[in-house]
Amino acid sequence: MRLYVTGGTGLVGSNIIRLAQERDGHEVIASLFGAPPEGSIGYTLDPLDMRDEDAIRASIKNFKPDVVIHSAALLDQTMMAAQRSLAWEIMVGSTRTLAHACRENGVRMIFVSTDWVFDGRAPELLDEDSPPFPVNFYGVMKMASERELSAMDGLNFAVGRLAGVYGLNYAIPSLTRWQQGVGFGDLPNYVVERLSSGRVAAVWVAESINDVAHPTLASDGADMLLRLARHDGSGIFHCFGSEFTSRIELARKTAEVFDLDRSLIAAVPTDPLVAREYTDAGIGVPFRLRSSTERTAQALGRKSFNAAEGLVAFRQEWEVRNAAINC
Ligand SMILES: NC(=O)c1ccc[n+]([C@@H]2O[C@H](COP(=O)([O-])OP(=O)(O)OC[C@H]3O[C@@H](n4cnc5c(N)ncnc54)[C@H](OP(=O)(O)O)[C@@H]3O)[C@@H](O)[C@H]2O)c1
Repeated sequence: MRLYVTGGTGLVGSNIIRLAQERDGHEVIASLFGAPPEGSIGYTLDPLDMRDEDAIRASIKNFKPDVVIHSAALLDQTMMAAQRSLAWEIMVGSTRTLAHACRENGVRMIFVSTDWVFDGRAPELLDEDSPPFPVNFYGVMKMASERELSAMDGLNFAVGRLAGVYGLNYAIPSLTRWQQGVGFGDLPNYVVERLSSGRVAAVWVAESINDVAHPTLASDGADMLLRLARHDGSGIFHCFGSEFTSRIELARKTAEVFDLDRSLIAAVPTDPLVAREYTDAGIGVPFRLRSSTERTAQALGRKSFNAAEGLVAFRQEWEVRNAAINC
């Protein structure tokens, strides 16, 4: 398969490329907007700004991939809230342009979306058909992008939603995120980083942040997205981890799996500076995101990792990385 990936230096994109190349033997082309990957790479880089419609169309026409996985996105919530037109152009505009280019060239398109299309306040378990209810501009743009694709006649597409992604960045390892955020992703990274150096991991627990979600190891989410790339189904798929858990439970599980001292984990209120940044900008954060992944598991032929399975696999990746650093 010839695969075109956007956002290839990102956490998700770098994991998609690694599996596609090293495990599946696919030919990979990756768009590049920011800094290039470190070290030698065995794939083609295609410098591309997601705001440049002509360049996007030319790229898809030139490379003629079988599938595009569109994972490039902005993640900085305050930037998106402050510069809405620019953010819309990058997020929704690029998705529309890529979709047109894919349709014109008979290419399948996988759009990477998020559980943040929901507010996390629904009493029932969500599924792929649940009505979206975003509480911030990022979620609005992801929902709008999903809608653009489903309204486009003749497009071979699927939406793969991710959630709470953590893991290693294989393109630019120094970009691996070791900080805690109001979102759910990166929390295991933060806990491992703190506890392995004997420091307290102060885990935020509050109503104003994402307290429950489906933790997803980036390489596991990448595997589900690659399955979706090979699949012929259309519509929405929940490609995130199969189990939901709270922040504090996830932190404790991380300590257990990594054989670290869980007494160093402390539940604390959200950092007031971070909370204020969000409140001042009027940015809502989904509270408790709980969803079914059954239908996607059936369609794609495997159940994604539960929380413990993801953490065990993360530990293996982390140890391989450390061994390579210490060589
Ligand atoms: N992280 C999570 O917890 C999470 C949860 C749910 C869904 N998702 C979704 O998963 C996808 C990947 O997220 P991630 O965590 O891997 O993000 P990330 O590490 O920040 O990577 C995003 C990538 O997007 C590209 N990009 C950013 N701005 C761009 C621009 N103006 N033009 C072109 N490319 C641009 C960059 O790649 P290049 O420089 O290589 O082009 C960047 O590395 C996103 O669609 C995100 O919404 C993430």
